[in-house]
Amino acid sequence: MIAGAVRSGLVERFGSPLYVYDLDALRASQADLRAALPEDFGIYYSLKANPHPVIARTLREVPAPCRAEVCSAGELRSALEAGYPAGEILYGGPGKTAVEIGGALAAGVRRMSVESLSDLRRVGRVATAWGVTVECLLRINAQAAPSVTSIRMTGTPSQFGIDAETLPEIAEDLLSTRGTRVVGAHFYPLSNSRDEESLVAEFRQSIELAASMQATFGIPMRHLDLGGGFAAPYAAAGDHPVYPKLRMELARAMDVSFPGWRDGSVKAYCESGRFLAGGCGELLTSVTNVKQSRGSRFLIMDAGINTFGGMAGLGRMLPLSVDVDVARASEAAGDVVRASEAAGDLARGAEPGRATLTGPLCTPGDLLGRNVLVPDLGEGAIVVIANAGAYGASSGLVNFLSRPAPAEIFLDGGEVVAATRQVNSRIDIKDDI
Ligand SMILES: Cc1ncc(COP(=O)(O)O)c(C=O)c1O
Repeated sequence: MIAGAVRSGLVERFGSPLYVYDLDALRASQADLRAALPEDFGIYYSLKANPHPVIARTLREVPAPCRAEVCSAGELRSALEAGYPAGEILYGGPGKTAVEIGGALAAGVRRMSVESLSDLRRVGRVATAWGVTVECLLRINAQAAPSVTSIRMTGTPSQFGIDAETLPEIAEDLLSTRGTRVVGAHFYPLSNSRDEESLVAEFRQSIELAASMQATFGIPMRHLDLGGGFAAPYAAAGDHPVYPKLRMELARAMDVSFPGWRDGSVKAYCESGRFLAGGCGELLTSVTNVKQSRGSRFLIMDAGINTFGGMAGLGRMLPLSVDVDVARASEAAGDVVRASEAAGDLARGAEPGRATLTGPLCTPGDLLGRNVLVPDLGEGAIVVIANAGAYGASSGLVNFLSRPAPAEIFLDGGEVVAATRQVNSRIDIKDDI
C-alpha cells in the first residue's frame, strides 16, 4: 500500500491524473496464480489487460516467467520490447488481417490461435507466401456452458472460436490447411469468475472436449491453452480471490483425460490478464471542481473515461473506492487547506456523503461513479482509484476530447524505476493519397 504522503509527492512530480504501479505487488499476484495452478502448467500473460512493456517484462522474470498472449500489432510490439521470444508468443484474435498476420510472421511469431476455418485459411495463405508453417491452436466455442456466472464468451453464437458442433464437418480441412499445423486447442469460456466451482467446471469441460477432439478427429493436443477467468477487483478496494481447490482439480482432470501429460506430451497453459495485473496499479486523480446541482453533489475530477473505464461501454458498472489523501501541493493554496480540512474532518468521524464522480469531458457519459460514498472532498484532493492495474490505462478512450494521456509510473522496492506517458500525434500520410 502506497502511503498518502508518497502519493501526493508523486502527483506533484508527475502530474495528475497518474497511474502508479507497484512491481512488488505484480510479482505477488503472479506468485499467487502460480501457486493456484499445477506445477507443470504454464501461464500466458494477456497483454490486453495492460500492455505496458514494464509490466510485461516484470512478468517474464524468473522464477515464474509468463509467456505472452497478444491480439494486435501494438501488443506484439510491447511483448517484443519486454523481451518475450517471438517464437513463444501466442497471437490471437477473431479478425486477423493478412497484413497483420504478415507483420507478426515478419517479427518471428510462429504460433497463432485461430477462431474459424476462414481465419485458419488466411493464416495459411500468408504463411505459405512467407514459406513458413504456423503452429495453430483451434479456439473452440463449446456447445454447452457449465457455468452461468461471470462474463461468458462461449456457449452462445459468437465471433470467438470454432463452434464445437461443426468439427465433424470441418476437422479434415482444419488439419490439412497448407502453411499451418494444428498443435492443440485454445479455450476462453469466461472472464472474471470469483466462483471457484464455475471455474473448475469450465476447465474440466475444456479438458474433456480437447481429449475428445483428439480421440474423435485425430486433432493433436500438444499445446493446450485452457484460458482463464481468474477474477480481480476492478476500481474497488479488495484483494483477488483465492482458488484453493483449483490446483488439485486441474491436475486430476488432466490425469483423467491426458494420462501422459506430466511427461510433457501435452503442455497445458492458463491465461490471465486481470488477476496478474489488476492489483498492482492505482489511478490517482484530482478533484478539479465540486458542484451542487439540484440537491446532488458532483465531484469533477481530472480523470474521466478518457483515462479510465472505457470498458463502461460494455455495460460494466464502475464502483469506485475513494480514498482521501492530503491535498497535493497545488498552486491554489486555498484548495490545499480545504482538502486537508476535509481529510481531518473525516478522521474525526464526520459523515461521508454521496456524490457523482465525473471526469472533465463534455459528455454526460463521462461518469466514473454514481452515488458514491465519499468524504467531504474539496478541490485539489486526490482521489485514489484502487485496483486499476488491468483495463485501466489500456481501456481509457484516450483520443476522446483530445486531452493528454496520463503518466504511468512504476515503483520497485518503493523507488520510481520507470515513468512514461503515451503521446498520440497525427502524422501526415500524403504520400499515400
Ligand atoms: C482470449 C482471451 N484471453 C485472455 C483474456 C484476459 O482476460 P482476464 O483479464 O479476465 O484474465 C481475455 C479477455 O477477454 C480473452 O478474451
